[in-house]
Amino acid sequence: MTVYNSLGKVVDIHTHVYLPSLMDILRNRLVILPDEEQDESLTKGRPIGSEYWSTPRKLQFMDLHNIQTSVISTANPWLDFLKAEEQIEAATKLNKDLSDICLESDKRIYGFGILPLYSIKASIEEVNRIKGLFGLRGIIMGTHGAGKGLDDPNLIPLFAEIERLDLVIFLHPHYGIGNDKFGPHDFGHTLPLALGFTFETTIAVSRLILTGIFDKLPNLKFLLAHSGGTLPFLAGRLDSCVIHDPQMAGKLLEKPSFYLKKLYFDSVCYGESSLKCLLNFTSVDNVMWGTDNPFFPPLDVQNDVYEKPWLSVVENYDCMMYLDVADREKILWKNANRILNLEL
Ligand code: URA
Ligand code: ZN
Repeated sequence: MTVYNSLGKVVDIHTHVYLPSLMDILRNRLVILPDEEQDESLTKGRPIGSEYWSTPRKLQFMDLHNIQTSVISTANPWLDFLKAEEQIEAATKLNKDLSDICLESDKRIYGFGILPLYSIKASIEEVNRIKGLFGLRGIIMGTHGAGKGLDDPNLIPLFAEIERLDLVIFLHPHYGIGNDKFGPHDFGHTLPLALGFTFETTIAVSRLILTGIFDKLPNLKFLLAHSGGTLPFLAGRLDSCVIHDPQMAGKLLEKPSFYLKKLYFDSVCYGESSLKCLLNFTSVDNVMWGTDNPFFPPLDVQNDVYEKPWLSVVENYDCMMYLDVADREKILWKNANRILNLEL
């Protein structure tokens, strides 16, 4: 794999883990996507091997793909399925555990913490704790926020505190949109992951922007998973719909695309034309590379042992190859180093 050796430093900012204490809570469920719970035609849950929770496995994966540094985050469904009091206890423990992993990793691992979002007061306390924890650079949040979406006004004090602390919110989908079947076929997880996830992000972020949050909190930093869903492509349409809507026209200081362009995006889009669309929309200074590990593993693997690079990772390297080295380096590590203050 010559590509890997020629690339220099690589930081993976989209890489997940279910820490052992979350595994203990999840073990009775082993259900990740909502339709795994509802659809009797799907096998309940999915096999969860050690690549989902073990730090040595994460480091092995990083070594296999020439990744020097990873900013790891708890994977969906985070703590969304717990009650507020349970979330508070779990978040504090998980953030401490995550920070300990960072501390022991000799700067190979940084992290995005997790919040007990059903209590805004406790979340504000937790972001302050996260700010002081070794290796943590922000938080991961689902599109439902505290249960009512990102345009929920209750979130504003939390967003204000996150802006004040200069932490990054890594926004990630989980629930999917439009997953109900339109026809008789079962295509597995293909459509929920390819389209449901990306439209979920698209809708949640659009709603957030339409509240005018970035007029109030212009320095609030969001990192959007999966290259912003479909937003780089649909931003022009969103702008035009605002201008032509009597209820919305004049409500925001700027067009939606003005705020959107200033957000951060991962480059997890698996294709050159998608990456080009993203980079035509936002600046190359706003895009950071990722893998979505441990998801999208090769299907042809025996006994959970990965010896060859994963196709999903190779695709996200390959789609950048048309860029010059300077831009590639920005996406691969320099932007992450600057935005997440990684000391590389
Ligand atoms: N599937 C998930 O459940 N989560 C991800 O982040 C990617 C794929
Ligand atoms: Zn992910």
